Amino acid sequence: MLAVSDLKVRYGAVEAVRGVSWRVAAGETLGIVGSSGCGKSTTVRAVVGLVRPSSGEIFFDGCSCHAMTAAARRTFRRRVQMVFQDAPGSLNPRMTVRAILAEALMVHRMVSGRAAVEARCCELLEQVGLSNAALAQYPRELSGGQCQRVSLARALAVEPQVLLADEPVSALDVSVQARIINLLREVQQRLGLTLVLIAHDLAVVRNVCDRVCVMSDGLIVEEGPAAEVIGNPQHEQTRLLIAAVPSIGALT
Ligand SMILES: Nc1ncnc2c1ncn2[C@@H]1O[C@H](COP(=O)(O)OP(=O)(O)O)[C@@H](O)[C@H]1O
Ligand SMILES: [Mg+2]
Repeated sequence: MLAVSDLKVRYGAVEAVRGVSWRVAAGETLGIVGSSGCGKSTTVRAVVGLVRPSSGEIFFDGCSCHAMTAAARRTFRRRVQMVFQDAPGSLNPRMTVRAILAEALMVHRMVSGRAAVEARCCELLEQVGLSNAALAQYPRELSGGQCQRVSLARALAVEPQVLLADEPVSALDVSVQARIINLLREVQQRLGLTLVLIAHDLAVVRNVCDRVCVMSDGLIVEEGPAAEVIGNPQHEQTRLLIAAVPSIGALT
């Protein structure tokens, strides 16, 4: 469904991603883990075009992004959606939830007509477990967890096939984290989405992901089925990440 091949990204003199390759099949969940600053966000930001790779290729549905026509690139931009760590910060503070969702629907001409837009906004909120009362609210009137639900609804508005979730619960209270992760899984299964989940918590990765890539210093140092990698880590970096998660002891 989605693959990156020998992806490299530089910020000036710093090579943040130094040749990363992975692929995720339709309906599969790929976890990307690694300590802060190892290049996880940069990798997925390059996939959606928020940063420009210095080299490497991105494939969607078997087609290289380099070779895509303008129409294919538009489809790609719609089909691959991102959910960010800082949900409140990724929502325009001057827009109501209705306006945020309506804008996403308009950009890709998903529905037309005021009534159809309103109905679809309500449906999207229902999908993420929010009531219609949220439509008239501004991001600052919502909790962090509610903002992440709106951010997910906005991503779902354009009927994506792939969701790239960059530490979607790291900024949330621990009590809310599991609920948002469960929502992501439930939505993924209901809509048959492909999910790339960047996560800090290896317990979550073990429970949710089919496969996992471990990154260190801009490279993938270990990769495999999530249960195998976490149950029997081969690389020092993986062991360090596992040791940093107290709750993992209960799982391994
Ligand atoms: N916009 C930027 N400009 C310059 N350096 C950046 C920028 N974004 C990230 N970096 C650097 O690139 C490296 C990788 O960052 P990032 O991809 O955000 O890591 P992660 O998501 O794994 O924490 C880090 O050293 C970070 O400081
Ligand atoms: Mg990051």
